[in-house]
Order: sequence, then C-alpha cells, then structure tokens
Amino acid sequence: MPSQRNNRERILFDADWRFHRGDLPFAGPRFPLTKWTYKPVGEKRPTDSPSALKTLASSRSGFKPIKVRQEVSGQKRGYAWFRTQLPSLPGPGRKVQFTCVFDDCDVYLNGKKLASNERWISPFDVSLDEAWKESGPNVLLVLVRNTYGAGFMGEADLETAGRPQGPTLAFYKDEDWRKVHLPHDYVVEGRFDKKTMDSHGYLPGAVGWYRKSFDIPFSDKGRDLWLDFDGAFRDSRVYLNGRLLGSHKSGYTPFRFDITHHVRYGSRNVLAVRTDSRGAEGWWYEGGGLYRHVWLNKADRLHVKPWGVQVISKPQGKGASVQLTTTLVNHSARPSKGRLVSEVKDPKGHTVLKLSKTFSIPAHGEKSLSSSGRLAKASLWGLEHPNLYKVVTRIERDGKTVDSLTTSFGIRSIRFDKDKGFFLNGKPVKLQGTCNHQDHAGVGAALPDRLFAYRIEKLKTMGSNAYRCAHHPHADELMDACDRMGMLVIDENRRLGDTPDVLEQVKTMVLRDRNHPSIIAWSICNEEPLQGKPEGLKRATAMKKVVLKYDKTRPVTAAVNYQFETGFRKLMDIEGINYNIDQYQTFRKNHPNTPMYGSETASTVSTRGVYQTDPKKGYVSAYDVNHTMWSLPAEAAWRPIGERDFLAGAFIWTGFDYRGEPTPYQWPCINSHFGILDVCGFPKDNFWYYKAWWGKEPILHLFPHWNWAGKEGQEIDVWCHGNVDRVELFLNGALLGTKEIPRLGHIEWKARYKPGTLLARGWKDGKVILESKVETTGKPYSIRLEPYTTKLKADGEDVVPVEVSILDKEGRLVQTADNEVSFKVTGPGLIAGVGNGDPSSHEPDIASKRRAFNGKCAVYVKAGEKSGTLRLTARSKGLKDASLKLSVL
Ligand code: GAL
Repeated sequence: MPSQRNNRERILFDADWRFHRGDLPFAGPRFPLTKWTYKPVGEKRPTDSPSALKTLASSRSGFKPIKVRQEVSGQKRGYAWFRTQLPSLPGPGRKVQFTCVFDDCDVYLNGKKLASNERWISPFDVSLDEAWKESGPNVLLVLVRNTYGAGFMGEADLETAGRPQGPTLAFYKDEDWRKVHLPHDYVVEGRFDKKTMDSHGYLPGAVGWYRKSFDIPFSDKGRDLWLDFDGAFRDSRVYLNGRLLGSHKSGYTPFRFDITHHVRYGSRNVLAVRTDSRGAEGWWYEGGGLYRHVWLNKADRLHVKPWGVQVISKPQGKGASVQLTTTLVNHSARPSKGRLVSEVKDPKGHTVLKLSKTFSIPAHGEKSLSSSGRLAKASLWGLEHPNLYKVVTRIERDGKTVDSLTTSFGIRSIRFDKDKGFFLNGKPVKLQGTCNHQDHAGVGAALPDRLFAYRIEKLKTMGSNAYRCAHHPHADELMDACDRMGMLVIDENRRLGDTPDVLEQVKTMVLRDRNHPSIIAWSICNEEPLQGKPEGLKRATAMKKVVLKYDKTRPVTAAVNYQFETGFRKLMDIEGINYNIDQYQTFRKNHPNTPMYGSETASTVSTRGVYQTDPKKGYVSAYDVNHTMWSLPAEAAWRPIGERDFLAGAFIWTGFDYRGEPTPYQWPCINSHFGILDVCGFPKDNFWYYKAWWGKEPILHLFPHWNWAGKEGQEIDVWCHGNVDRVELFLNGALLGTKEIPRLGHIEWKARYKPGTLLARGWKDGKVILESKVETTGKPYSIRLEPYTTKLKADGEDVVPVEVSILDKEGRLVQTADNEVSFKVTGPGLIAGVGNGDPSSHEPDIASKRRAFNGKCAVYVKAGEKSGTLRLTARSKGLKDASLKLSVL
C-alpha cells in the first residue's frame, strides 16, 4: 500500500508551459467554411417549411456569393438566408463551430432544424450527425435575423471528433515551442491589424496550443487529483496523455477536470490545451489563452468539495453570528465516518470559535453539514478597516486529519434602502464606483496578482469605494484584493439566458465568490436586448433561482439601458440604470419602493494630457466636455447622483481605459477613451474631479500644462478641479481672477499664454490651504523611475509596474515629452511589457522600449524564479539614464 499524505495540496501550475501560436492537426479533419452564398429576405420572418427548405437547398436563385465577415445587411434590420454546401466527411462527431453569426440565427441541415443561437457575442457549436446524408449533398442553411448594425457570417469550421493526434499526444515533440509562464495572453503579443475587430482593439484572435509535462508520484495513488483552470480564453479543449478530458466554452468562468483516473502514476504526464480566441464573447478586448492561474489539487478521497464551504456571518451587538455549511465528498468505494472541525480565526489569527460535528457518508456520496455559533466580539469588515476572518476546516478520520482547507471571510452587514441608498454596517455609504474590464497595459488580459492590487489602490486613491466587474466575473485574485483593501464589488454574469451553460455560469460565479465580503450584489447581465421582453423575464427568472439556491444574502440586479418598466424589471431587488438619467426621477416615481443605483454612468471620453481634440490622431481633449451620444461629461453625470440620497451611487464607465471599443473613433485608435485613468493607470484630469468630490482630502488641481510654445498671446482654457471654497489664479505673479468652486462642480478661466508659472491658490475657511501650479518646463533632460514596490516574489510571475516620467533639468515633469525609452533588466527577472496610455499607439506592448506619451510611460518588470537583486535601467537618446534596484525574494 503506498504511503498516503495527510492533507490536501493546491499546487500553482503556472510554470513551465510550452506554447505554440496557430492551429495544428489534433483530432479529426477540420475544414474552414468559406464558400457562403446569401439571400436577403426582408423584415418578415420567412417560412421554414420542409418544402421551402428543400427549394432553398436545391435552387441557387437569389443567392449571391459572399466572403466571411462581409457586411451584407446594409445596417438594416431583417432576415436573410446564408447557405453553404459541406464537404463529405466521415462521422461520427461531425459538427460546425460558428465563431460569430451576426445576429440571432437558426441552423438547418438537409431540411432539419438543428440549433438556434441568440446574439452575435456567443460562439456556438452545432452537431450534424442526426441530419447528415452519407450520400450527400449536405446543404447547410442559416436563417439570420439582424436586429441592429452589421449583419454577416463569421468564421465557421466543420470538424469531426476523430482520434486525438498531434500535440495532444504525450510523445509529441514540442521542444521548439516557446516557454511561457502563466498567466499568459497571446493576443496581446500580436500585431495591430486594421482588418480585425475594433472591439478587440484590432488585435487578431488565434488558436493557441499549450503543453506542460509533470510527474505524479506513486505515492499519490489513492488520492483524488484534479486540475483547476481559473479562466482560459476561450473554447478550451484539455487533453491529458492524448485523451480528451473535456472542453469549456466560455472564457470567463473557471473549470475543473478530475484527473484521478487519467494520470500515469510514477511517471511523466503531458497536459495539452487548445484555446481559440477568434470568437468573441463581448465587445471589448478579451485576450487569448491561459490568462488566469492553473492549479493541480491533491486530496484524500474524502474531502471538502471545491467551493464547498459557505460562511454566512452577521454582526450582532458587539459580536456576530457565524453559520457554516460545508459540503463533503467521499469518492472512495467505502462509506466513511469522521468528524468535521471548523475553527474560526480572527484577523490576528486567534481561534475565536470552534465547531465540530460527526458525519458518515456513503461510498461515492456527498453530504452537507451545517453548524453555527456566536462570536462575543467581532471586528467588522469595512472600507477603512477591511478585517478578514478565516475558517480553517478540517476533516478527521480515525482521529487523524485527512483534509484541511482555509476560507477567508468578513463580517459585515449590507442593506439597500429605497430612500437612503446603500448601508454598510448600518452606516450610509454612497457607492462611488467604477466599471472596469480586466485588461492592463503591458500584459493584456493576463493580469498578474499584484496588478489587481495596483489597480484597486489607484481607484481607492481617487476616493472610489466600489467596482463593477464588466461584464463577467473577474479573476478570483481581484476579489481577494477588494476584500483585503476595502473595495465593494458588484459581480456580474456574462449574459442573459436560461440554457444549461448560462445557468452553469451563474452557479459558478456564485459558488466561487459568495464568501467575499466585498461583493454586495449579483448582476445577472448587462444591456440585454430581451431585458424588457417576456422572454427576458423567463430567462432572468431561471437565473435568479440559481443565484438564490447558492446565496440568499445579496440582492440580485442587472444593468438596464431601456424598457425600464417591462420584462425582468419586477424580478430585480435593486434597479441598475445604465445612463438615462431622466429615469432617476421617472423610475423613482413609478417604483418608489425599489432601491436604485446608476449601474453605468458617464462614458466621458478623454485622452491623458491632450487639450486639443484631434480626430485624425484619435485624441479627445481631457477637459470634461466630451462624451458619446448616450452619455455625459463626468460632472453632469455625477451631480444628479451625488445630489440624490435615494440613489445608492454610481459606477462610472470606466475606471481604466481598456483595449478595444475605441469610441468615439476607430482605427488608428486601438483603445477606449472612457477611463478616468489610462491603460497604464496614469490619471487623466477627471481623476481630480472625482477625488475632489469622492475623497476626504482637500484637493486643488490646475490644468492644462503650460508648455504652449508658439501660442504666445493666445487664449488657453484653464480649469481647476477641487473642493476648496475659492481659488485665485495667478500668471507669473499677476492675479487673473478669483472664483468659487460650486459643490460637485469645477471652475474655468481663459488665460493668454505667456511662458512662466500659472498658479492656483485655494482658500478654505478664510485660509490658503493649497496651491497647484503648472510651469513652462525646459527640454527633456532625465528619466525618473517609480516602482509600485521594490520587493517581488521569486515565483516567475510577480510583476511590478514602474512608472516612467520624463523630467527637465529642474526635475519637473515635461508633460509634452514623447522620448523613446529603452529598458534593460539584469539579475533574476525580465521585462514583461511596456505601455504609455496613447490610445493610438501601434507600438507593441510586449517589448522593451516605448515612447513616452505626454511625459509618461510604464514598464512592467517580472520576477524570475531565483532570488537576488534585479536592476532595471532606462535609457533614452539625449537624456540622463535612470536605474533602480528591486529585490526578488
Ligand atoms: C454601455 C455598455 C458598455 C460600453 C459602454 C460605452 O452601453 O454597457 O459595455 O460599451 O456602453 O459607453
């Protein structure tokens, strides 16, 4: 009998992967379907009677040849037929994988309807065997209903299951594949291409293969082994030693495979993963590949089920109640008996409650055990003091611990009030939130853990206290950072639906995230076309049922942008309103008992450090004046919320810029302009508007810069964001004027440009308390490097963002500088990437040099696996070098 270890192991499986970009033959044959013909029908749905389908399949009349992704609708709503003849292919397991059919569609083969799909943002598969004619011909018809915008047929592949081959096999030679360390995004490594999706930032999707070898010792025999993939974009297929473990479509939910009966004990094992990021699940940059962590888990056959601990706590007087539900699984062939022990530890690590229960579970059984207790004293989780408790769960069998697991939680109360907004621990808190996508300069969608903390810290510095995960659950480590740092979260499911896969996504979100104290609501979807329709209500009802099955402690919501009165409205515990500020009053009047918040507001557009809009370059001025048709400047969007107590708060679109959605422009722009901070996390001027009215400190921020050579004597718009009472403005010592800052507002002047110093002096309660100045600087002279931290973990994946500034001889930031800076690392680490926040820059992020954009750029330094001192050097022609040391520990 091999010796058995006692406890569970959770091993980070991010190191030593090999990667290949592009597809390889791996199973049955695969044929891209490129020869489509198209026939417009009109506004009315055509019949799909057998005889009509027969005629459509046999006669070419009215069908025109088209190319993949060719826009055929003329932006008109209505129906159209798409047709293609499939090549002959041996079965079984024939299917077509559609990447993107714009919009809703029904798929028919040889007169039989095989599938329906809603919306363009959902790649889908259609199995063909049941309607396949061995003798052929096999004519595929797709009836497409265009609901808005473009209409087209995207990439589609015909394939058969076949026998695994090529890179799926253990002995496949992958020595020439590149070595990568997860998290990894291969789309961000690509080149910008005008022909690809603007929503994806013009970075083309691709198939990417990963392989990893690992040993499983004989001593693991008798334990349960499973792999956790925290997220892979997308349509993943996972093979172990040449055998398909399974597949997972969505790029946004974690998935797991039991490998207990597939591994070779005492031997090498080879894992192969194919991801395909050509499809889209959303209209923002989505990345590609194993962009979140992978874990190998080992545990006794009797163990706590993954996500099997639920902690519900409630403040009670000075103490709290704690209710635990723990689900155990017994995967052995014998019944099992034992004791479940749960120890609650306070933030200092002292045990404050111990609960224990005996249990017996049948062979191959599962059991949930509940117990509860009281803490005499509780340190509540809050925004300033995010106190975290832990439950250490142990399973004892025959007096020995066979499994143990630690779950973090926080004790706090939340409440949404119809008149007074949101309450945390009984006190009103205005939600000063931002919506964000998971994307950052230098790394794409593959954010290392530290970058989550970096981003949350930036938002907190602005006075923000809430984060909406747009439009899918973000990585677990983001939630951890929010728990640790005190940031409230609205967690969001990708899309509306009641199909098994959508309901599974809802379940996964709630099960994974329900112990995070930061999460205050579950949003089931965003801006869905069916939100106001009976079909939308039907889908949302099924989704809410799933949420409530796994968590009853948080309200269910959705982000709604029209049809506020119908559809799933009556189901929502709190009403999320996207834009539409007139609804704040109208909806309130019609539904005085429903708590409300702005689930998405502002969508103000601005480019950091730009003060003259330039559509050619794709820049929008950073004065708070530009916005889209459906949105508003920051001030106009926040004021109606800041002034109304019944609105719980708002989530600004967005905290950070992200790739894709380059509104209000297109190519050459590759990233959005919505951020209050740019893609690197450098603040734009609106940052200080929010900081002034969201934060607690006195603020005075004067802009623009004062380097306007050539504009001498011309009028320049001068703005001040701040929360002081009154501001005096001086140019080179001469008073230009005095203005009061209105509550939730800003002030502005026009000043004739003269080089020198523009100074704002802020008065509060009759005293000068702040000054803010901009000066005409000298030429670029040196480089400043500011690391987020000087200590990195020697784990091969920790990353530190280093902010790079171009200074003049007197050490002042040259806000107009665009010098190219080259970076070099010596010692245990490397350069992971670079960025500069320029929404139109086509310089690669995966590089070791970057131009500064309006005085700044960033470099992301990644730790190696060995400890030591790492030196980062920055050089730029004509400038003084800079360098710094980082400790890799
Ligand atoms: C919203 C949408 C967001 C983003 C935003 C841009 O309608 O929910 O995902 O597209 O518009 O303003």
